[in-house]
Amino acid sequence: MSTLVLGIESSCDETAASVVRDGREVLSNIIATQIPWHKAYGGVVPEIASRKHLEFINPVIRKALDDAGVTLDDIGAVAVTYGPGLVGALLVGLSAAKALAYSRNLPLVGVNHIEGHIYANFLAHQDLEAPLVCLTVSGGHTTLLYIEEMGDYTIIGQTRDDAAGEAFDKVSRVLGLGYPGGPAVEKAAQTGNPNAFRFPKALHGELDFSFSGLKTAVINTFHNAGQKGEELNINDLAASFQESVVEVLTEKTMLAAEKKNAKNILLSGGVASNERLREVLTAACKDAHKTLYFPPKVLCTDNAAMIACAGFYRLKKGNIAKWDLNADPRLGL
Ligand SMILES: Nc1ncnc2c1ncn2[C@@H]1O[C@H](COP(=O)(O)OP(=O)(O)OP(=O)(O)O)[C@@H](O)[C@H]1O
Ligand SMILES: [Mg+2]
Repeated sequence: MSTLVLGIESSCDETAASVVRDGREVLSNIIATQIPWHKAYGGVVPEIASRKHLEFINPVIRKALDDAGVTLDDIGAVAVTYGPGLVGALLVGLSAAKALAYSRNLPLVGVNHIEGHIYANFLAHQDLEAPLVCLTVSGGHTTLLYIEEMGDYTIIGQTRDDAAGEAFDKVSRVLGLGYPGGPAVEKAAQTGNPNAFRFPKALHGELDFSFSGLKTAVINTFHNAGQKGEELNINDLAASFQESVVEVLTEKTMLAAEKKNAKNILLSGGVASNERLREVLTAACKDAHKTLYFPPKVLCTDNAAMIACAGFYRLKKGNIAKWDLNADPRLGL
């Protein structure tokens, strides 16, 4: 008999719900984005995020059930993100999930948001097998993981300062390209020259990352030109910045795969939707006779299908949450 898991995600600025069959088949995937409300501030405003989640959560869950053509009677478990993320935002999804699970006598499964990003790959690639090296690149994380078997994660590299997505967002804001920064910088970079500027790449030869020096160098280049009244091609700057980030991510991921002797490499998180990163990493993997997997774009950024998928595998292991499960803004893997 198959199991339908209702996934709920509200850790940042996306209110999402999804129904997934047996951790594999996405029956619905509803994402209500709050971008229009945060845009004016150039980033996510936590208080606005919590209030919007509260407004969106019930209609989003209802639509997820409707689109899947099911009712709560068909659901076998409720999986919800309980961290990491914004505490007020997390609490909205968590409270909704608890209320539904308790009233329907369903198992409640707590999911780590970052584990969710990794599991997005399992929705797209049915044949994935550990051991794997996984690069998770999102708004809050830049992490290299060694996955000996699913559920068993070792952090082998991480950022010492900014996350890759955060660097995209900050550079975008300074260059006046808008929010969210990743897609805006990528668009500008399409018509820019990636070799126009050379920027520093920190921690060469190590598995840890540092993006704050690169970010500052880009911002200083922009401001210096402004002060001198020089014309500066924003698209060239965006392309050169993106190229540096992609080069660093690729070099370290390949180094990790080599060190761990892993044949399969996973890419996950919002920055995984970057076309240039996909292209360069795919080429590097081909050269090294390794296989790269990444989810379709809609499953790279925040969504609840990935949470339902990760939740299904937790459920199978008997990993059911207690009713006092709390939001944990700094939850680690
Ligand atoms: N095409 C792209 N190129 C580069 N970065 C991108 C692209 N699309 C999205 N991003 C970046 O991905 C991030 C959003 O991803 P995601 O939703 O996974 O992060 P988050 O949920 O905010 O953080 P976390 O998952 O670490 O809690 C933003 O920083 C955004 O700029
Ligand atoms: Mg995320």
